[in-house]
Amino acid sequence: MTHRVFLRELKLTDFRNYARVSLPLDSRHVVLTGENGAGKTNLMEAVSFLSPGRGLRRAALADVARVGAAGGFAVFADLEGMEGDVEIGTGTDGGDDALVRRLRINGTAAKSVDELTDHLRVLWLTPAMDGLFTGPSADRRRFLDRLVLSLDPAHGRRASDFERAMRGRNRLLAEGRFDPAWLGGVERQMASLGVAMALARQEMLGLLTALVDAQDLSSAFPSASLALSGFLDDEIAAPAIDLEDRYAAILAEGRYRDAAAGRTLEGPHRSDLLVRHREKNMEAERCSTGEQKALLVGLVLAHARLVANMTGHAPILLLDEIAAHLDEGRRAALFDRIDALGGQAFMTGTDKSMFSALGDRARFVTVSDGHLNV
Ligand SMILES: Nc1ncnc2c1ncn2[C@@H]1O[C@H](COP(=O)(O)OP(=O)(O)OP(=O)(O)O)[C@@H](O)[C@H]1O
Ligand SMILES: [Mg+2]
Repeated sequence: MTHRVFLRELKLTDFRNYARVSLPLDSRHVVLTGENGAGKTNLMEAVSFLSPGRGLRRAALADVARVGAAGGFAVFADLEGMEGDVEIGTGTDGGDDALVRRLRINGTAAKSVDELTDHLRVLWLTPAMDGLFTGPSADRRRFLDRLVLSLDPAHGRRASDFERAMRGRNRLLAEGRFDPAWLGGVERQMASLGVAMALARQEMLGLLTALVDAQDLSSAFPSASLALSGFLDDEIAAPAIDLEDRYAAILAEGRYRDAAAGRTLEGPHRSDLLVRHREKNMEAERCSTGEQKALLVGLVLAHARLVANMTGHAPILLLDEIAAHLDEGRRAALFDRIDALGGQAFMTGTDKSMFSALGDRARFVTVSDGHLNV
């Protein structure tokens, strides 16, 4: 039995519709049930703040504090983390500081939110992601980058540094400052960061594909084949030339075109994640609603398995309304697969009976109007 990462206690203060609650837990999964608007997704969102970023709703911090509360919000967790017992507190101070997320680990202010990834990894799947395959490519890119980030915490910094450099280049071009030395410097920086981003994405997809290949195909969930497109496609797949030189040259050649377009037309910010349903050999966007959902569930679970293999610890999984639209057999198969990951999963639904196949592998919590009943 491997060392299990799990939340032992979760406390929320002025978080969304919760004034003050405390939820004692054990290593089992957590099933949250209750009426619409009770606070199930809010509770999962609180757990998602134990990872870097803006949480599973991608919320503005100012929206998270409870309406009517005097100050900011706080999320506190006592957990058995990857390095053992740890206490994590995060939130905002309210007032002028409402836009800064504070983080304390074992009582000490953390230098960077990336420190969270030393203790736990958190992955989620929410109904808001249902349109992932048919929606805008920006959503798929964000999804992809989150997959990379949970394996490689440096990916976030690379992506934000790339964005900053690109904004700098766009500004120079917009102002008509075609100074080759200055532009060339910014473009070299973009090339180094952009190629690193593309390679990190490619590497993660390679690992995920190898894992899906090795999986049992009789599984209740279809498997996906994954590819990237839109940026140095052939070159990244078989790097025979210096990719950074290649991208820097593309940028240098494209200066007048990009100035006219008002943006940088080539780069990792334009690539897309292509997903196919393997067994049907069909693009995901042409699959049925149910097939797309099953593909997404399969993808997230395969990724969770990859994170577990790479870090030695299963991630905390937040699965919002996961059991909806699944027949009983698929539901039971899903619970078995979640359980086999060896981590703690939080699941929500309006109906407790949907989760009966979990039996005593889960702790059942009823949520009603910002209160918890364990
Ligand atoms: N900052 C806030 N302050 C107070 N209440 C809030 C805040 N943000 C959201 N809420 C409220 O929290 C309530 C619970 O939302 P949540 O999304 O957690 O419900 P849910 O239990 O997941 O419901 P559903 O089954 O419909 O998904 C909503 O009524 C929402 O209006
Ligand atoms: Mg909800």
